[in-house]
Amino acid sequence: MTKIFLDKLVKRFGKVIAVNRITLNITDGEFFILLGPSGCGKTTTLRLVAGLEYPDEGRIYFDGQDVTDLPPKDRDVAMVFQNYALYPHMSVFDNIAFPLKIRKVPKQEIRKKVKEVAELLQISELLDRKPRQLSGGQQQRVALARAIVREPRVFLLDEPLSNLDAKLRVYMRAELKALQKRLGVTTIYVTHDQVEAMTMADRIAVINQGVVQQIGTPSEIYHKPANTFVAGFIGSPPMNFIKCSLVTEGERAFLDAGEFKYELDKEWGDILRDKGTEFILGVRPEHIKVYLKEKPGTIPAEVYVVEPLGGETILNLMIGSYLIKVRYTGELNVSPKQKVYLEFMKEHLHIFEAKSTLRAI
Ligand SMILES: Nc1ncnc2c1ncn2[C@@H]1O[C@H](COP(=O)(O)OP(=O)(O)OP(=O)(O)O)[C@@H](O)[C@H]1O
Ligand SMILES: [Mg+2]
Repeated sequence: MTKIFLDKLVKRFGKVIAVNRITLNITDGEFFILLGPSGCGKTTTLRLVAGLEYPDEGRIYFDGQDVTDLPPKDRDVAMVFQNYALYPHMSVFDNIAFPLKIRKVPKQEIRKKVKEVAELLQISELLDRKPRQLSGGQQQRVALARAIVREPRVFLLDEPLSNLDAKLRVYMRAELKALQKRLGVTTIYVTHDQVEAMTMADRIAVINQGVVQQIGTPSEIYHKPANTFVAGFIGSPPMNFIKCSLVTEGERAFLDAGEFKYELDKEWGDILRDKGTEFILGVRPEHIKVYLKEKPGTIPAEVYVVEPLGGETILNLMIGSYLIKVRYTGELNVSPKQKVYLEFMKEHLHIFEAKSTLRAI
């Protein structure tokens, strides 16, 4: 069991700042996910924790002990790399046993441990095969078995499910999460897949261009995104953003998007008045109600494209020149150019400051 503290880590490669003052506090036994787009510094962060890179600035602590200057072998972490590499000439058994062999663990004990971990990952029948005789998902589990077998303090997993087909990935997500909880080993898991992050993590750090944008539980990140980057990165289809100006008419306050005005209640109007005049209204596709007949307070829109998905329908609608996506549960019989009327669910609205992109409410 290990707590990990990354204190203002910086890593540069020439002019590129791959990791820019990343600070993370990861608790004992936590399943912690680093989420962000390609090139944002996820792998570099993992390599710093593993000791495969040395930071330009900042320190790394395990359980309060500064490990920044420790070589990888003394940190007791197991890393599964983005392109997991098995030794092609070795059997599955020998691949899994390898970390124990180099530690000179007695043969008897190696047998026992490999058997145990193989059962855990349901690869017991594959121990005599060579990696090339395995499917991608089986190879993946062998790579994980090799990481798990020596019971490290920390698991570092870099996109370990990226090479699997969609079905196996969904299955392995649940398996891995259950396994991590059973073993209780502190885990840092890297992915650029927001669904994977939302379904597996205890907490997520969303990273962009080497900078942490927000740290929180999946629910916090979904319901209270700290800025427009996080808001747009989480959720599918992504959140709709509409540029607005704050206008007041006497006591009343509105967000004016040009094509429509959204009336704010007094409390929100007062908060926004103190923050400026230009805002971005954010509303997720699943938080917009669609009506076929006009109702008071609804916003008129025109159907552009309908994408039926069986259980639900994605509607692409135009409010003037704005394209808005709506996720409708069930099937909706509408056709292009038809008029519909929208209601934004107030309790699910997000308002960001236009200039800073930070959450205003
Ligand atoms: N050894 C290196 N030399 C030079 N630049 C590097 C090196 N390693 C990483 N970088 C750069 O640092 C940045 C972060 O890279 P990193 O591999 O950490 O991204 P990532 O978030 O893991 O991306 P991906 O999702 O594509 O794996 C990128 O701009 C990358 O090009
Ligand atoms: Mg990477």
